[in-house]
Amino acid sequence: MRSRGDTISQSIEGNLRGVKTSQRKALERTYRRRTSPREVVSPELARHLATTSRDLGRQVGVLLDRGGVVKSVVVGDATELHVPDVGRLRGGPGRFAGLRLVHTHLRGESITADDLNDLALLRLDAMVMIEATEEGDAGRVEVAMLDPATLAEGAVAADEEVDPFRHLSARDIFALDFDFEAEIEALEAEFRRVAQSAGRTGKERALIIALTPEDSRLDEMLELVRASGTEVAGVIRQKRFRVHPKTAIGPGKLKEVVLEGMRRLADVAIFDIDLRPAQSRAFEDATGLKTIDRTQLILDIFAQRAKSRDGKLQVELAQLKYSLPRLTEKDAGLSRLTGGIGGRGPGEPVMEIGRRRINDRIRKLEKQIDQLSKQREVRRRRRREEQIPILSIVGYTNAGKSTLLNAMTRSEVEAADQLFMTLDPTSRRLRFPREGEVVITDTVGFITDLPDDLRIAFRATLEELADADLLLHVVDASDEQLDAKKEAVEALLEDLDLGDVPRLLVLNKVDLLSESQAEGLATRLDGVAVSAVERNGLKKLIHAAEERLALADPLLPTYPDRAESA
Ligand code: GTP
Repeated sequence: MRSRGDTISQSIEGNLRGVKTSQRKALERTYRRRTSPREVVSPELARHLATTSRDLGRQVGVLLDRGGVVKSVVVGDATELHVPDVGRLRGGPGRFAGLRLVHTHLRGESITADDLNDLALLRLDAMVMIEATEEGDAGRVEVAMLDPATLAEGAVAADEEVDPFRHLSARDIFALDFDFEAEIEALEAEFRRVAQSAGRTGKERALIIALTPEDSRLDEMLELVRASGTEVAGVIRQKRFRVHPKTAIGPGKLKEVVLEGMRRLADVAIFDIDLRPAQSRAFEDATGLKTIDRTQLILDIFAQRAKSRDGKLQVELAQLKYSLPRLTEKDAGLSRLTGGIGGRGPGEPVMEIGRRRINDRIRKLEKQIDQLSKQREVRRRRRREEQIPILSIVGYTNAGKSTLLNAMTRSEVEAADQLFMTLDPTSRRLRFPREGEVVITDTVGFITDLPDDLRIAFRATLEELADADLLLHVVDASDEQLDAKKEAVEALLEDLDLGDVPRLLVLNKVDLLSESQAEGLATRLDGVAVSAVERNGLKKLIHAAEERLALADPLLPTYPDRAESA
């Protein structure tokens, strides 16, 4: 759908092969027929279309604007008609093109699936079919338009199949009792109403395109989307599918996406798989939705979360590398990514810097990262020399790692009146009651199935874990996926050759559980129950950490009273 709105003129489009001059004149006269805004189509225009169509033996259609003016005339063949490019006349999410297609059918067939596809994909006000009778008169009439009843929030469950259209039909145009102007206004008003209630949060609204069959993956996807600060407007699932080479999903699903996108006022589509650059662009063109794939989503989350200088550089590098093949001559594919999801990053917005500068920037970043890694090595060596134990917090994204780090350092300040020293935003020194000084470092959250591009960046930020004397593995105790996520993190640690580093499981967020549930979990998983938010269980945690550290390092002194105090 290239924007060709301006070129809609008084020409005749479509199949004009062998059309006689007189027939062409008749087609051109179509532009003179008026329809009042309230009519779906005027009886005169309907008859004219039927007569011309029967004479040609081909379907004939017109695009009418809201004022009833003919904007385009198109000729098809006996059984179908290709709607001319109406351009992307969208005024905003959920708005219609302001055009309806009125066209003839020659064989008495009803509005077809293709007609409904066009209605959805072109965001037409309505699709109207006029039967051209054998005698060349206008016969039965059918109208399809979006059904406002399916718009309201919660009217349709995310996975429910509904017919989103309302269908009307009448014996002939005179029998059609329908105030088109009022109906389309009501429909627009309903959209505005839903848009307002949806717009209150000011967040982008995403339609999730879930193509991976496992439910757990969908759950993770929803969490990731929320973690990116985007609202989930709806989910479109396709369990058995083959990636469509051009648009990622086939034409039928595309229609569903457009419809759901309209109904749920989505402005972005987020895929749970990665797309090729051309696929993203084609999908974006077909649906009018900003298109984000899994890697982009995760990059976006990383971009928002990266705290350390190193992390920021790594994310920017990954973003640049990712966008390089996605830059086209005119940047068509990225033009929409100027703000919101996919457009955030530590550096300049990618589309504002050219390809050559991107390459320069990539080289510069790589150098900086290299330098940082050397500095880190020096710092690590110093810590080793000082023999300061290092505790690293690891865990699935959103488990509460940062909150816990803050809680521990703050509680330390309050409890022991000891100053901690911020080494960098994610690494802090604090004083343990017995161990003396320790360093606690926070790490980037773990995610299963990290895209390849990111795994490298991710590993780099995790290289420090190799120096850890103890890993505090934080899990969200209230999470239904607790076990799966715990295993995912453990597998990743194993993968990073960190399987032998002593570990302590921290069951965070127990404030969301009952006491007995928390106790049960702590026993079952052999972990320490805490609430980072309510700062509960922190002493017990510090105590347990010290104990593990002492066990891991027999040279450290042991304390007789270790078992008590919590
Ligand atoms: P990533 O940076 O994505 O890896 O997340 P994280 O593991 O650092 O989690 P973070 O500390 O950002 O916390 C994630 C969410 O969980 C936040 O909304 C916190 O307020 C919430 N949270 C953290 N700890 C607790 C807790 O003890 N109880 C409750 N109820 N919520 C918590």
